[in-house]
Amino acid sequence: MAPLLLLLLGLLSLILGLLRGRNRRDGEPPLIKGWIPFVGKALEFGRDAHTFLEEHKKKFGDIFTVKIAGKYMTFIMDPLLYPNIIKHGRQLDFHEFSGKVAPFTFGYPPVTSRNFPGLQEQISRSFQLLQGDSLTSLTESMMGNLMLVFRQDHLGERTGEEGDWKSVSMYEFCNSVMFEATFLTMYGRPASSSRHHGMGVLREDFVKFDNMFPLLIAQIPIWLLGQTKAIRKKLIDYFLPHKMSSWSNTSQFIRRRSELFEQYDTMRDVDKAAHHFAILWASVGNTVPACFWAMYYLVSQPEALEVVRQEILDILNLRGVKFSSDRDVTLSKEQLDKLLYLESAINESLRLSSASMNIRVAQEDFGLRLNGERSVAVRKGDIIALYPQSMHMDPEIYEEPQTFRLDRYIQDGREKTDFYKDGQKLKYYRMPFGSGSSMCPGRYFAINEIKQFLSILLLYFDLQLEEGQTRATVDSSRAGLGILLPTTDVRFRYRLRTV
Ligand code: HEM
Repeated sequence: MAPLLLLLLGLLSLILGLLRGRNRRDGEPPLIKGWIPFVGKALEFGRDAHTFLEEHKKKFGDIFTVKIAGKYMTFIMDPLLYPNIIKHGRQLDFHEFSGKVAPFTFGYPPVTSRNFPGLQEQISRSFQLLQGDSLTSLTESMMGNLMLVFRQDHLGERTGEEGDWKSVSMYEFCNSVMFEATFLTMYGRPASSSRHHGMGVLREDFVKFDNMFPLLIAQIPIWLLGQTKAIRKKLIDYFLPHKMSSWSNTSQFIRRRSELFEQYDTMRDVDKAAHHFAILWASVGNTVPACFWAMYYLVSQPEALEVVRQEILDILNLRGVKFSSDRDVTLSKEQLDKLLYLESAINESLRLSSASMNIRVAQEDFGLRLNGERSVAVRKGDIIALYPQSMHMDPEIYEEPQTFRLDRYIQDGREKTDFYKDGQKLKYYRMPFGSGSSMCPGRYFAINEIKQFLSILLLYFDLQLEEGQTRATVDSSRAGLGILLPTTDVRFRYRLRTV
């Protein structure tokens, strides 16, 4: 019996050992594994990533490795070290991670060089159509579409009556306006009408899908998530090529992507549609909550709101001009660029609400150089992660980090760009859009459209928070995935302004 027992015990400890995972080697950062096999620290991290990381930083210093759902993630907590991680091109790869997670989430086959030769490179190149000269036409188109939605939904007879307040939920308001205006700007409008039929249903389905987004990103199989698969199919079907081909005023960016997909015989129509759906998520998933927070902070601070309103009036040379429901406003890209206070307000609200994680995958075992003297050993397949929310909330970099300050990013009448840690100027001090080669290609458009949305609001309407509400707080359950949503919606009222 004894040899068999020994063998069984040996096997058991081997299995437990495998489940417990690896041990720290010389030169590697402190390793935190937790006691639950495979899961490691996933539950604690998922509950409140920011607090988890801050507590571990106090205990283990500014670099440590955590086992999270079978993966080993090395967090670099000191923002002075960010530049060295961001510039590590060859050994640290972004696309390995996104290339697996995005197809799983949005339901298209992985874009590998074997399945679709050259497609990944062409997709990356198409991102230029969100910037440069293309940004000007995108921005103009967005202005027209915002005015269209505002005019038909919010500047109509009933809200137009002077002195007549209308009370609504703020997130719902931002979502309905921005979702549709962005959709029209990106994908165009139907052949015979200025707006798509059934946009409300599309948006409701999108919200249902979006609620499941964190679970899909965590690679939970979609069949475990109730109706999500059917809802995703409905959303994807909206973008089938025979439908899209009848739309007009489609952005150059989306037209280019459609042309690219046509080059691949192996790509099914439903896969092309799923790629378009992924871009819908990228273009509204973060922008809507970003609009909410910028609007919320401005409406909660009436003096700040008035400073921004006067700035917009000055830039437009419209002081004293009465805005009525039959007067359209346009703001060119150049005018938007001059709105310093509005930009500071948006950047400050992004700082307060963004919790994205920048992820790179180590392509080999190597010594990751952190600065002149320091390096740490990382293993092939490990994830190196930056978590900029810790920097955004660092009181040494940002005095009273929990407070919204309108002029946080303004100094001597210009944009303030110098922020310090340990007496050293930071190269990276605000990172809602990621970093390096994987940085969000839609960031300039996003800032422009948020500026346009807020400008229209401030020019046309008086805005007030409803009394008796508690302060809006961020819902941390989506930490790591971008701009956080509010825990609960907020009520506000608005009426057409009289000068
Ligand atoms: C406030 C609004 C937005 C925020 C905070 C945001 C943030 C981000 C972040 C954090 C990433 C990942 C970067 C990384 O991992 O390093 C990303 C990627 C991306 N974003 Fe945005 N984004 C916003 C708006 C937009 C808009 C309006 C568009 C398009 C019109 C867009 C298109 C994309 C695309 C296509 C990618 C994937 C890039 C790639 O695969 O390399 N984003 N965004």
